[in-house]
Amino acid sequence: MSEPAIRFIDVTKKFGKQVVLDRVNVDFPTGMTTVIAGGSGQGKSVSLKLILGLMKPDSGRIMVDGQDISAMGRRELNRIRTEFGVLFQGAALLDSITVFENVALPLEERTSLSRQEIKERVEEMLARFDLTGHGDKYPAQLSGGMKKRVGLARALMLQPRIMLFDEPTTGLDPKISMEIYRLFFETQKKYGFTSIIVSHDIPKVFNLADQVILLNNGHMTTFASPEEIQHSADPEIISFVETTMGQIYVSKEMEKIS
Ligand SMILES: Nc1ncnc2c1ncn2[C@@H]1O[C@H](COP(=O)(O)OP(=O)(O)OP(=O)(O)O)[C@@H](O)[C@H]1O
Ligand SMILES: [Mg+2]
Repeated sequence: MSEPAIRFIDVTKKFGKQVVLDRVNVDFPTGMTTVIAGGSGQGKSVSLKLILGLMKPDSGRIMVDGQDISAMGRRELNRIRTEFGVLFQGAALLDSITVFENVALPLEERTSLSRQEIKERVEEMLARFDLTGHGDKYPAQLSGGMKKRVGLARALMLQPRIMLFDEPTTGLDPKISMEIYRLFFETQKKYGFTSIIVSHDIPKVFNLADQVILLNNGHMTTFASPEEIQHSADPEIISFVETTMGQIYVSKEMEKIS
């Protein structure tokens, strides 16, 4: 198998006395989709920040395409970050510029394409995400699902090799969440990027996963497939599965009621 796109080697991350990651070793294989699951406050967002070099580990190494990102200086970090597409909690659109301008931003900052070329690419992307005719709106004038789609469109503009999603569907209703996942699945198939998704949307998001990583008490456990989790003998993992299944049960009941 080729070298993993991202590899954690003995990574420890602490905040004061709190150990968030405790000598974690884990691989994110190239071209595959990895879902990181785990309870609130277990360190999922911190893990993504480590991958982007926005935080440094206390010890250990984080390899991106075989290079240690935690040892890089600012210039190298900026270069390697152009390979990432990122969609964080809340989509993080710039409120003072239009949808069109938000999606065009990566091309304007990172390429020397002409106005006309940028316009064509942005319009093509807006069409792909069902946003044709909304380019002149400002983020405040969009629904939650539209904001996420704009965020996804912008993240894909530079055809990243690695996509990081932190809770891409938080706050969206189930139908729109499915739509975001469907779009994600299509674009992943088209571009073939490596992706890492942090999500509470279990088991929906498991349908997209090539592998699942459970983060609990500072440890990451890798499962080659979502089904494998169900067969774990680890009491903590069994408890995690039971809790999330409990949530699914409740949400189905809610759907029936509404
Ligand atoms: N900059 C920071 N300084 C101090 N502690 C931090 C910092 N960033 C994160 N933490 C702590 O690290 C732990 C993990 O945080 P993180 O945001 O990764 O959780 P999470 O798994 O993403 O949770 P959620 O599912 O609620 O988003 C939390 O206890 C948090 O308080
Ligand atoms: Mg988080």
